[in-house]
Amino acid sequence: MPKLRTRYRCTDCHAEAPRWTGRCPDCGAWNSIVEDACAEGGTPPVAVTALGDVAQSASAPRPTGIGELDRVLGGGLVAGSVTLLGGEPGIGKSTLLLQALASIAARGHRALLVSAEESAHQVRLRAERLHAAPPSLWLASETDLARVLAAIGEVAPDVVVVDSIQTVYDATLGSGPGSVVQVQACAQALVDLAKQRDVSVVLVGHVTKDGSLAGPRALEHLVDTVLSFEGERHHALRLLRALKHRFGPTGELGLFEMGELGLEGVPDPSGLFLGDRQAGAPGCVVVPAMEGQRPLLVELQALVVPGTKLPQPRRSAQGLDAGRLSLLAAVLDRRAGISVTGADVYASAVGGVRIVEPAADLGVALALASSVTDTVIADDLVACGEIGLAGEVRHVAHLSRRLAEAGRLGFRRAVVPASAPDGPAGLQLLRVSTLVDALRVVGISAS
Ligand code: TYD
Ligand code: MG
Repeated sequence: MPKLRTRYRCTDCHAEAPRWTGRCPDCGAWNSIVEDACAEGGTPPVAVTALGDVAQSASAPRPTGIGELDRVLGGGLVAGSVTLLGGEPGIGKSTLLLQALASIAARGHRALLVSAEESAHQVRLRAERLHAAPPSLWLASETDLARVLAAIGEVAPDVVVVDSIQTVYDATLGSGPGSVVQVQACAQALVDLAKQRDVSVVLVGHVTKDGSLAGPRALEHLVDTVLSFEGERHHALRLLRALKHRFGPTGELGLFEMGELGLEGVPDPSGLFLGDRQAGAPGCVVVPAMEGQRPLLVELQALVVPGTKLPQPRRSAQGLDAGRLSLLAAVLDRRAGISVTGADVYASAVGGVRIVEPAADLGVALALASSVTDTVIADDLVACGEIGLAGEVRHVAHLSRRLAEAGRLGFRRAVVPASAPDGPAGLQLLRVSTLVDALRVVGISAS
C-alpha cells in the first residue's frame, strides 16, 4: 500500500496547495481549498470499474399519480434527480406541480413545496380551489437559499418543488436575485442536495417566447430532465414535453386541459380536437399528425378571401408554419393551377395545437384548394403526405400509427403517398403520387 498523506486541492482551479488556506494561492478563489488524500509523490488513485460491475440504480421512478406527467417522465420522478419545468408565466406550472405534490403526498410520500413567489396563504387558497390540500403536504414560503435548504433538511421530503428558481437567491453572492449567476448557483446547490439526500427535486423556471428570461436555459446542463409546458394563452390545451431526459425517452407528449379544477389530463386528445367540427364547410380537412410518439387527429382550416384590400395580401398561419403555407400556395398555383394570387389567406390548426411537420403539407394544400374552389372535402376522410416543389406527394414517417388512429376514430378513407403501407381494416387508402392526383380523389377540380 502506498503511504497516504494529506494534501489540499482547490475545487475551482484544481491546483494543489501544500496546506489549507482560506484563499487559493493560484486562482484567488475563497473557501475553495479542500482536503485531497492521495498517494505520496504519485497521482491520486483513480476509480475505474467495468461497466457491467456498476450497480444498477435501485430507485425506480416514483409515480406522481398525474397520468400525463408520468407518461412524459417515463413513469415518474427518480430519487436523487433534478427536473426543470420551464414555461411562460401563467401557463400553469405552479398549478401542475401543486397537483402533483398533493397527489404524491396522498400516496403516502413526503412532499414539500418551496413557494418563493406566493405566500403560504395564497398557496393554501389555490390548493383548496384545486381540492389539493392533503395534510401531509409541507409548505415553506422562502426565497433565501440557506433557508430553503434548511427547510428541506427539516422536512426530509421524498419530493421537493422549488417555485421558482428565479426568485430564490443566495445572500452570500454579490449579484441580484434572478441574475444568471444567482440562478445557476442556487440550482447547483439544489442539485448537490438532491444527490446527497436522494430526494427528487423539481425546479420551476419561467421562460418567455423570445427567451428574454435567460436563466432556465443556463440550467439545462445542470439538471437531469428538462420539461417544457406550452400552450396558447387563449386555449385551455396545455402540452408537456421532455426536451432532455436522462432516465427515458424524450418523444412523449402529455396533454392537459386547464379548467375550473386545475389541470386535467386528456387521455384521448384526438376526440378533443375533432369535437366541434362543422360538417359541410369548405376549407376543412383532418390530418393525422404526430406529436412526439403520439398520433393526433387535428382539423386544418383555410379561408381564402379573394380581392385583398392590402398592398401585400395577408398570409396568416395559426398553429402552422407560415413559410410552409406560402410554399404550398406557390406549389398549388404552379403545379395544380389553383391560385391564391391577390387573395388574403388564413390557415389554422384547430384547438390550440401547433402542427409544423411536413406530413401536414397535403392537408394544408387540400384545405387551401377546398376554400379557393368552394368544394367541401368529405368528413370521413383524412390526408397525410409531404409535398415537394415539383408537386409530388412524398412518404412520411409513422404512417401506420397515424392511419391506425384515424381508423380508431371512425374515418373511412385516407389520402396517402403511393408508398404507404396497408392501413387498418375499414380504412380505405387512396394512394396518390402528386398533388393533382390528390385533388382529383377528393373531388376538387381547378376551374
Ligand atoms: P399558474 O399555475 O399560476 O401559472 P405559472 O405558475 O406557470 O405562472 O396558472 C395561472 C393561470 O391558470 C391563471 O391565469 C389562472 C389559470 N387557472 C385556471 O384556469 N384554473 C385553475 O384551477 C387554476 C389554479 C389556474
Ligand atoms: Mg407560478
